[in-house]
Amino acid sequence: MSPDAVTATERILREHCREDDLAPGSTVEIDVDQVLLQDVLGPLVWMEFEALGVDEVATGPVVTYADHQVYGINEADADTHRYLRTVARRHGGHFSKAGVGICHQVHRERFIEPGATLLGSDSHSTTMGGFGALGIGAGGLDVAMAMVDEPYAVDVPDVVAVELTGELPAWATAKDVILELLRRGSVKAGIGCVYEFVGPGVDTLSVPERCTIANMTTELGATSGLFPSDERTREHFARLGREEAFRPLAADEDAEYAERIRVDLSGIDPLVAAPSMPDSVAPVSEYAGIDVDQVLVGSCTNGSYHDLATVSSVVEGETVAPNTDAIVVPASKRSVRLLAETGGTTALYEAGFSVSESTCGPCIGQGHVPAPDSVSLRAFNRNFAGRSGLEDDSVYLCSPAVAAASAVAGELVDPRDTDLSAPNVDLPDDMTGSDTDVLGPDPTVEVDRGETIGVIPEQTPLVDSIAGPVLITVGDDVTTDHIMPASAEVMSLWSDPQACAKYTLARVDPDFAARAEAADGGVIVAGENYGQGSSRENAALELAVLGVDAVIAESFARIHRANLVNFGVVPLTFHANADRETLAEGDDLRISGLREAVGSGAKSVSVRTESGSIAVDLALSDAERDVLLAGGRLRHVAERRD
Ligand code: F3S
Repeated sequence: MSPDAVTATERILREHCREDDLAPGSTVEIDVDQVLLQDVLGPLVWMEFEALGVDEVATGPVVTYADHQVYGINEADADTHRYLRTVARRHGGHFSKAGVGICHQVHRERFIEPGATLLGSDSHSTTMGGFGALGIGAGGLDVAMAMVDEPYAVDVPDVVAVELTGELPAWATAKDVILELLRRGSVKAGIGCVYEFVGPGVDTLSVPERCTIANMTTELGATSGLFPSDERTREHFARLGREEAFRPLAADEDAEYAERIRVDLSGIDPLVAAPSMPDSVAPVSEYAGIDVDQVLVGSCTNGSYHDLATVSSVVEGETVAPNTDAIVVPASKRSVRLLAETGGTTALYEAGFSVSESTCGPCIGQGHVPAPDSVSLRAFNRNFAGRSGLEDDSVYLCSPAVAAASAVAGELVDPRDTDLSAPNVDLPDDMTGSDTDVLGPDPTVEVDRGETIGVIPEQTPLVDSIAGPVLITVGDDVTTDHIMPASAEVMSLWSDPQACAKYTLARVDPDFAARAEAADGGVIVAGENYGQGSSRENAALELAVLGVDAVIAESFARIHRANLVNFGVVPLTFHANADRETLAEGDDLRISGLREAVGSGAKSVSVRTESGSIAVDLALSDAERDVLLAGGRLRHVAERRD
């Protein structure tokens, strides 16, 4: 990066960085201004915070949201919320009650500020880029460390300019812009990158539209997505009643970027991502005519007032098809209240939509699970197989506009081929709301720890050598949804690492957990991009609970790799990817001198296999080596702070 002209990303990093050198590819430590937690990964973060013995959070705001488990399908969910409410307030954090809304939506309404760094225990923390803030999803332990004022280690990203020109035509939406980027790229295209949105087209997008795009830069595998903070941002802060939070942020005009992607907004078509990957993108017209059994609009991508009003605008005076169930799941109570005030809720009800509580809910299989052999069309961000709660699901992703038109038609339609009127949404001047349901810190609160709250397993130093079987071999693009399922049944156990270990990789092989536990050590063998998707740290933590020593993969997704290090599971990459084919489940492996290799900075280590030996790479920073030697981040930091 040039020392003179800087990108907006570099401007934020420079303001928060503890080092001067921001060379791409290097790892730097940054200060974290704001922290966001949710209710399925937040409990582990607070348990880790408590384990550090610190009384009060050292940065802030630190806000914990009860958003994923809002329906309270059993007593464990309510028990988890009670723990979160008490532990957060007791230690200086805020707590957003169940039903107030999804973390990314409520946080952007009430807390985010341009130029800030935010670390979230949820991968879609990139949403904050719509407000000119650098939101990064991270593993829970990294988030817990930020809460005690430990810096966050981030690989200096390649900053990619997405140059927007023109203006979206009728029926094309912000969702189609990010689907277009996924169509051109893939779920791996943005690894190691921040997508920075520049050019005259930026001014044509409202802040909620920008948030939709920034949100799904996560699906590109990116570290984050970032829009400038400009006059549109100032206007939006005024709507939210927080104009004092505004500050301008932009790249210098002659800033250099690692790459430029040009998108003419006027050429964007309505798009759809076919089952079961967000990058299986094609024009809606290619799938037109497929019967649609269920339509859902919501999530942290498409649950804002702007999205809900888009749906009500399209379906006003129309009727949902008889064989289609249509539901909107607002991303916040404030969004749905505004919709009611502007008449949109009535239009939805009269058309035959129902309106859910504000929650993640069906995005992670909590409610509205599709019927077998049915098609679900969702204005959400992920359609990984099984995420809906149905193992062999068929979930298409689209915009709220396409979802609304298809609900009326009962089949997937290109809305430009219908008689429906294109949506026309103006944001209300006043988008303020009550703050009474987001509770502030209270040091007098007693922490209420119910039976569903487990313990973080003790971490022990890395051993000299590891020996054990290949416990499982998996292919490319295995998601954290595969490693730790997000069904309603399993998520209720996420606060108890010991209880949910048995579900580890169950969607790939139901016998995996029992086999791993019996082996008391061993290795997972994987292909490319292992651990993509959700930031859930229990996808790594549960491997530690089961005694898995290492994962050997062709490559790792960023957050999951960091989580493995944090929990003392060694991430190794094949030196020659062809070696993956030489390993099979049940093969006995031995890695001698692993501790010494990690400690000495060695770049590779030899793995003894049944037929000889192969080389695997130790692509680790010095800091990661220290963490692995200690047996994990919690033990490493606790030792240092003693
Ligand atoms: Fe929630 Fe789904 Fe977003 S689980 S945070 S709505 S990706």
